[in-house]
Amino acid sequence: MLGLSYILVAAAVVLETARAHTVITYPGWRGNNLIANGTAPEENPDSRGVDYLPNGTYAYPWGMQWMYPCGGMPQTTNRTLWPVSGGALSIQPGWFPGHSKAFFYINIGIQESGQLAPPNMSHTVVPAFQVTGPTNNEYPGQFCLPQVGMPANVSLQVGQNITIQVVEAAQHGASLYSCVDITLADNNDPGIVEVTPDNCYNSSDIGFNLLFTTSSLTATGSTSGASPVSAPTTLGILAVTVLMMVGAVL
Ligand SMILES: *[C@@H]1O[C@H](CO)[C@@H](O)[C@H](O)[C@H]1NC(C)=O
Ligand SMILES: *[C@@H]1O[C@H](CO)[C@@H](O)[C@H](O)[C@H]1NC(C)=O
Ligand SMILES: *[C@@H]1O[C@H](CO)[C@@H](O)[C@H](O)[C@H]1NC(C)=O
Ligand SMILES: *[C@@H]1O[C@H](CO)[C@@H](O)[C@H](O)[C@H]1NC(C)=O
Ligand SMILES: *[C@@H]1O[C@H](CO)[C@@H](O)[C@H](O)[C@H]1NC(C)=O
Ligand SMILES: *[C@@H]1O[C@H](CO)[C@@H](O)[C@H](O)[C@H]1NC(C)=O
Ligand SMILES: *[C@@H]1O[C@H](CO)[C@@H](O)[C@H](O)[C@H]1NC(C)=O
Repeated sequence: MLGLSYILVAAAVVLETARAHTVITYPGWRGNNLIANGTAPEENPDSRGVDYLPNGTYAYPWGMQWMYPCGGMPQTTNRTLWPVSGGALSIQPGWFPGHSKAFFYINIGIQESGQLAPPNMSHTVVPAFQVTGPTNNEYPGQFCLPQVGMPANVSLQVGQNITIQVVEAAQHGASLYSCVDITLADNNDPGIVEVTPDNCYNSSDIGFNLLFTTSSLTATGSTSGASPVSAPTTLGILAVTVLMMVGAVL
């Protein structure tokens, strides 16, 4: 009996993981929001994404991670320390099917003195970029940005609380949200979890592309009159150029 229930629990964990989405592996995250529960979407025409049940609990038939701004998780108090001038960020992008390509947006919300929480998550700290994964099914692996900087035009103090928001837009445009609440610390604070090759690495089967605007297409000589055949070639060359630039820019 024990054996069977262990197997059932293990199966449930695997199922839950397989249905899940982004995870911030460094510096941490608000908590497990890899949860889809309640009545299945196809039997739940009245769902607004989060269902308020009569007994006072919530259900997320589509999954918690689709809830703006932090994937259904309220602000936490078990904050982790992170360097005041910015630090490492590790993300597992492939927890959910549909992410062989995904756009990422990394923002912070700044809690000013007297505020209970950040007023918004509108400070972008990394230019939007695209991740390419090995498959459109779930896949393991992570990427790490070893030095995410802080915006130059905001003043952040040691001891201040901020929230890092990671947004992953899937191929159909739906976005998954995950956050981690941090307290800014002196860059050399020994309480900051050390960044090592074990917690900050790029899996070899995850690639990167930068986003570029259509004005950069004309700027590099592509014309709006390009034939349908030559246009993709131009795009292909641009994509290669962008790929080569990405290491320098990110
Ligand atoms: C905060 O606590 C939750 C619930 O125990 C946990 O899942 C999460 O990883 C913790 N976050 C940090 C940054 O330690
Ligand atoms: C609330 O109701 C839902 C739907 O009936 C049920 O699945 C859930 O376990 C209940 N939760 C509590 C805390 O009673
Ligand atoms: C669904 O999961 C959330 C997050 O764990 C939980 O708060 C909620 O009670 C669950 N709802 C049901 C109906 O089990
Ligand atoms: C930061 O958050 C922690 C945990 O919630 C809290 O104890 C502390 O007072 C906050 N600090 C500031 C400056 O708001
Ligand atoms: C977001 O919050 C910052 C303070 O952190 C504020 O200066 C800014 O005006 C807000 N932006 C928007 C779009 O509300
Ligand atoms: C900081 O600069 C960025 C980029 O120029 C701008 O979008 C943002 O509104 C500025 N934020 C503040 C608080 O001035
Ligand atoms: C992972 O790849 C990105 C994009 O090329 C790069 O900026 C980052 O430094 C790499 N991370 C590590 C740990 O090498």
